[in-house]
Amino acid sequence: MSTAPVVQASGLGLRYGTRTDLFADVSLQVGQREIVCLLGGSGCGKSTLLRVLGRLEAGASAQARGEVLFLGSPLHAPHPRAALVFQQPSLLPWLDAARNVGFGLDFASQPPIARAALRQRVHDALEAVGLAGQGGLYPAELSGGMAQRVALARALAREPQLLLADEPFSALDAITRADMQELLVELVHRWQTAVLLVTHDIDEAIAVGDRILLMGAQPGQPAGIVREWNVGITRPREAHPAAITALRLDILAALQGVRHTVSLPNSERLTA
Ligand SMILES: Nc1ncnc2c1ncn2[C@@H]1O[C@H](COP(=O)(O)OP(=O)(O)OP(=O)(O)O)[C@@H](O)[C@H]1O
Ligand SMILES: [Mg+2]
Repeated sequence: MSTAPVVQASGLGLRYGTRTDLFADVSLQVGQREIVCLLGGSGCGKSTLLRVLGRLEAGASAQARGEVLFLGSPLHAPHPRAALVFQQPSLLPWLDAARNVGFGLDFASQPPIARAALRQRVHDALEAVGLAGQGGLYPAELSGGMAQRVALARALAREPQLLLADEPFSALDAITRADMQELLVELVHRWQTAVLLVTHDIDEAIAVGDRILLMGAQPGQPAGIVREWNVGITRPREAHPAAITALRLDILAALQGVRHTVSLPNSERLTA
């Protein structure tokens, strides 16, 4: 990686109350214009790790350890240039799409922004996700894919240098999902964002990821990053089916050694 990492975490760990550590010794970094995908069984702590990285509250009994550097400085609280996207779009139903995208941008905790600049940001973000001119629609008038685009636009309007995305496309149909994956790669390349994307879908990780991390745990042990792949398949990736298949098989084999259940196509479903 030629540039300094946007986010660099070392020795991250988390424990709920007096339970065994959920994960420990997690170190990772994501660079500008890089998409790192995080795969791992259900319950191994991926969403919690994302919250710890973004310095969001992980629950009253959570005790987090380790250091997060954001653009070289220690991060102790959520940063306005680090945005999150979740599986559910979580739009406010009483605000139209444009107001949802702009919501919170003028809060006191955010960098000051003039009204016209805010309008422009919202416009640009909606345009980037293919919803130009549709900002007046309310959440109830949006399809699932459109709502997820609005959620992505809401993150982009923060002009994030880091995007933490937790299974953002998992509720979408296959076609919409492929469109959104393509859109994400295009936006990351255009806006130079660093992305950490949690997914259960190996094919999604191979389609969008520059690197893939596998999180897992041995029984009774805290989870950690157990494998890492550099994808290294030039885009468009679908032009390299043999390389995709080889990587896919390698990831599947590694998943056999991970304890928890992982969502795979039915023919390949693994159980703990
Ligand atoms: N506030 C909390 N208090 C106690 N335990 C919690 C809390 N939040 C999460 N957990 C536990 O931490 C574990 C990891 O949860 P997390 O949501 O991070 O997993 P995940 O890897 O994202 O799973 P999935 O793939 O199903 O989304 C789970 O066993 C969950 O019950
Ligand atoms: Mg999760």
